[in-house]
Order: sequence, then C-alpha cells, then structure tokens
Amino acid sequence: MSATLFTGIGELATCEPTLGDESALGLLHDAAFIAEDGRIAWVGRASDAPAADERVELGGRAVVPGFVDSHTHLVFAGERSAEFGARMAGEPYTGGGIMTTVAATRAASTDELRATASRLLAEMHASGTTTVEIKSGYGLDVATERRILEVASEFSSETTFLGAHVVPAEYMDDREAYLKLVTGEMLAECAPFARWIDVFCEDGAFDELESIRVIAAGVAAGLLPRVHGNQLGYGPGAQLAVEFDAASVDHCSYLSEEDLDALSLGDTVVTLLPAAEFSTRSRYADARALLDAGITVALATDCNPGSAFVTSMPFVVALAVREYRMTPAEALVAATRGGAAALRRTDIGRLAPGCSADFAALDAPSHVHLAYRPGSPVVSQTWREGIRVIVARPE
Ligand code: NIG
Ligand code: FE
Repeated sequence: MSATLFTGIGELATCEPTLGDESALGLLHDAAFIAEDGRIAWVGRASDAPAADERVELGGRAVVPGFVDSHTHLVFAGERSAEFGARMAGEPYTGGGIMTTVAATRAASTDELRATASRLLAEMHASGTTTVEIKSGYGLDVATERRILEVASEFSSETTFLGAHVVPAEYMDDREAYLKLVTGEMLAECAPFARWIDVFCEDGAFDELESIRVIAAGVAAGLLPRVHGNQLGYGPGAQLAVEFDAASVDHCSYLSEEDLDALSLGDTVVTLLPAAEFSTRSRYADARALLDAGITVALATDCNPGSAFVTSMPFVVALAVREYRMTPAEALVAATRGGAAALRRTDIGRLAPGCSADFAALDAPSHVHLAYRPGSPVVSQTWREGIRVIVARPE
C-alpha cells in the first residue's frame, strides 16, 4: 500500500460540508490530502499532514473534485454544424435532427464510434471530468443500440439505454411496433451493457403512457430509471420521474409549480443542461426556483452532436453562473457532488475520506476562476483514483 501526499493546495474545495469552513463547498486553505490505493485517506491543513510514501506539490493551485458529467450522448457519428448554423439564424430546435445522427451512426463501424468517443473523452479529461455517464439513443435498431452500449461500457460503468429517444422514421406508421421492440428484444440485447434506463418524455418523442411502459420494462430488466423531460415544453416527465423514484430528471427548462412541489418531496435530482439551452438558443431553466425549493441540482454537458456539442464542464459551470444566477460555489457543487447524486453515487464528487481520489488542479488560486475565466483552460491537471490522467489528443 503506497500513500501519496498532495500538498501545496492554495484552496481545496472538498464539496463535503462537514470539512473545512463547513459551507456546502467545504473549503480549506493551505490544504493537503493523502490518497492511498486510489481513495482519499486523510484531508486537512498542510501543516498537519501525516507522513506518506510520496509527495506531489501543487504549487498553490486550487483543487476541486473531478467533475461528474452525469448526462452525455458520447457514442455517435457525424456532426450537425449546418443545423446549428440554421438555428443561430432563427430556426427553432425540435429534436428533428436526431434522425440525421441515427443515419450516420448506423453507417459507422464500431471502430469509428470508439475513436470518436475516445477523442471526446480526451477533451473531457483535459477539462477536469473524471466520471462520465454515456447514453445510447443514436442507433434505434437492435444491433446499433447494442454496439453503442458495448462501446460506451468500454469507457464507463455509468451507461444508459435510451432506445426510447425518438421513434425512428421506419416505424413512424407503427409506433406500437417500436414500443414493443424497445421494451422487448432491444431491451433484452442492451440491458447487459447498461446500468440505467432512460426515455425522452416529450411532445414529438414519447408521451406519458409510452414513457411509463419504457421505464417499467427497463426496471423489470434490472435497470435503474432516469428521464429526459420538460425540455421543449411543459409535460409529465418530471412528475413521472418522481413517481418512479428516478435518480434524475434531465433538462427541466419548463417546470410548473406542481412539478416543483413533486420534486421537492422526492429524491429525484434535477440535472440542468445549460449548454443545450445555449446551443439551441432556448429558454434557460429556473435553477433558482429549484435551489430555493431545496431540490438537489446537478449540472452536466449533454454532450451530443445536435443540441450541445460541448465537452467542457468548466464552460457549463460558467453558463450556470451567468445564466442561471447560481453562485460559483453552487455551480461547482452541482457539477461534482450534484452529478454524483444524479448517479446515486456517494464515492465520487467529493474529496472526503473514503472517496475516490478524483480531482482537478486549477491554474488559479480559487474555484471562482472556473466561471470568472470562461473559455480559458483553467484546469491544468486531472487525477483519477490518485493517478494523473495524461491526455494525449488522438491524431
Ligand atoms: O438531450 N433531448 C433529447 N436528446 C438530446 C439531443 C439529441 C439531438 O438533438 O441529437 C438532448 O438534448
Ligand atoms: Fe440528453
């Protein structure tokens, strides 16, 4: 067993309220921690640090928990810059472009899918992300959904079956047949590679009863529920998520008072995706109403080629601070501990004894620089399970 002392930390945001200044950020100054076998063994003031086998000097940098990006669609082929350009010229976002990506993804080889996901993951690591959830949903046939999840499972244990993303074109005249496929054969083929079941519960995707069927089938197959909902308009997604005790309901740009009441009574986290609202030029969610109601909020990228071709959690934090009026501390907690809660994990998203030694060291004296210097590469080092992640951008 080898213990490494990480020291010379100007500001340590543990995201554990019982540590440091006992704020939600659990801030410590002139701090240090010890990692042993990939886990945090001790956290405190540098001057109190016990002996360790090795020592890493962080030169006064601020350190934050590695970002937990709890909502991505990382395995796909192609790109949709023309659609983005049209949107910026005034076209609305409807989700209609999903089938463009489905066509490209079906045509791509598994090696191509793997290479694209790996390139995007390298960008994520470079910007401080240490855990990433990955959804399927750009295959929408049995073989491609399964291939996507096989690739996703090579990169993460947080994989999600989203065969119910939209009804693919070839089933437009027979939704029921697609519902049977997605809750039957496709689910059976994909469940071994997935931890979560997801459904896009929205006008134009799946309605309430269809969504219930998808989630119930996934749960019966041993998967845990999460929901895409309330993105393009008011709808049943949020309340459905609470009824199923889903780990998270994601997007939530449109929430009614009743939705807020239901969410405040349940354990479902609301995952906000400001990069999707930015990239689709749609209305920003009311994060303040959620926080004021005591609802746990997570922030994630939603990385996908249509609504948010974004890999950077620091950019998401900056957007949340500017557009959601979250404080830099609230946004950092949502991007770390909040993401962990959205994956029902307590071993990540915090830097406390027993947690995974996943962290980002910033070229900055304070976590505030994540929002204060948007667009700049503020993250200088990413460490996962106590080992530095060396990011080599593939050719
Ligand atoms: O989370 N909302 C549904 N799905 C994705 C976008 C899919 C796309 O436009 O390709 C999302 O925003
Ligand atoms: Fe999504």
